[in-house]
Amino acid sequence: MNAKLWPTWLPLRNDLRNLSPYGAPQLPAEATLNTNENPYSPSTELIAAITSRVSQVASSLNRYPDRDATKLRSELANFINELSGTGFTEESIWAANGSNEILQSLMLAFGSRPALGFTPSYSMHPIIAKVVGVDWHDGGRRADFSLDIDVASRQILQLCPALTFITTPNNPTGTKISIAELEVLAQATKAVEGVLVVDEAYAEFDEEASAVTLIAKYPNLVVVRTMSKAFAFAGARLGYLVANKEVVQSLLLVRLPYHLSALTQAAAEVALEYRSQLLSTVARLIESRKKVVTQLEGLGLQVVPSAANFILFTGFKVPAPQLWQMLLDKGVLIRDVGLSGYLRATIGNDAENDKFVAAIDACLNGED
Ligand SMILES: Cc1ncc(COP(=O)(O)O)c(C=O)c1O
Repeated sequence: MNAKLWPTWLPLRNDLRNLSPYGAPQLPAEATLNTNENPYSPSTELIAAITSRVSQVASSLNRYPDRDATKLRSELANFINELSGTGFTEESIWAANGSNEILQSLMLAFGSRPALGFTPSYSMHPIIAKVVGVDWHDGGRRADFSLDIDVASRQILQLCPALTFITTPNNPTGTKISIAELEVLAQATKAVEGVLVVDEAYAEFDEEASAVTLIAKYPNLVVVRTMSKAFAFAGARLGYLVANKEVVQSLLLVRLPYHLSALTQAAAEVALEYRSQLLSTVARLIESRKKVVTQLEGLGLQVVPSAANFILFTGFKVPAPQLWQMLLDKGVLIRDVGLSGYLRATIGNDAENDKFVAAIDACLNGED
């Protein structure tokens, strides 16, 4: 794509001039499987509970919200403690408008030295680095997308990054790294006085223990999580951080005042009350993922082993952008993540998955 020509009177930063706004195409489709959302919409019970809480909050919308989101943070701490047997209080939690905002705050607070990541991984990590002016380095991965922990540790010791990003389960590959491997990276980052950022956007889909269990031992390790995926709450925009309280206090230095609206806080508090109902979709999505993998393999495709709610697949002969378009023409929107020969598809509901598999079958076997 050609870079946009900006008017000369506009004092846009030089390093932004060649960028395009990030974002997957938001196109109408019968099966929307491109942004790793949860396909199951809120129950009528949850909708009623959110509506009632929001109408209570509405009576005081003339006032700014709780700037520190104390109640929500304390409820997030309870959720994490319940999940991981930890003993965090709200002082170890920060909350923001999606985990992207948390990632941006981390870069703003700690970006004085380089940041290191291992691609292919979540593409917003380097994009946020660029936008906030942090020097980004790519450590790379093996050809099968697994992470070589020894190589990564050596890279950390050589580069001395202030921030090292690990996404597990990783987006877009679905691959994961173990808690023991994370511990090795926590040691390396600690040795260089850097922060290890573990992006656990898809952690609920994996049986591995959360990296929050390492924070007591490694105060330089921080965990970024979201309600956008397993919690089926992407539209509400709620991401959070679990970390040592000194890290949280650092983020307070860079957050905008009243960043999290009273409506968002209220809705997220209700969603947390309904967590068992919301998270019950996780087991269902894992079962569906297994079924879709078997079906794609039956069509002669190869699927990268996934611990998340999406799959990365290969083995088709046409170029990825062409297959992406052919699927869209059949009403199925998936994601071309820019990896030659691969496409990524989110696991949807049964009807969407059936439509996706049937469309792939038709595309590969030239039905029309
Ligand atoms: C690895 C990873 N981290 C963070 C995010 C951001 O999620 P949100 O800002 O909706 O919390 C995503 C979204 O796709 C993601 O895949």
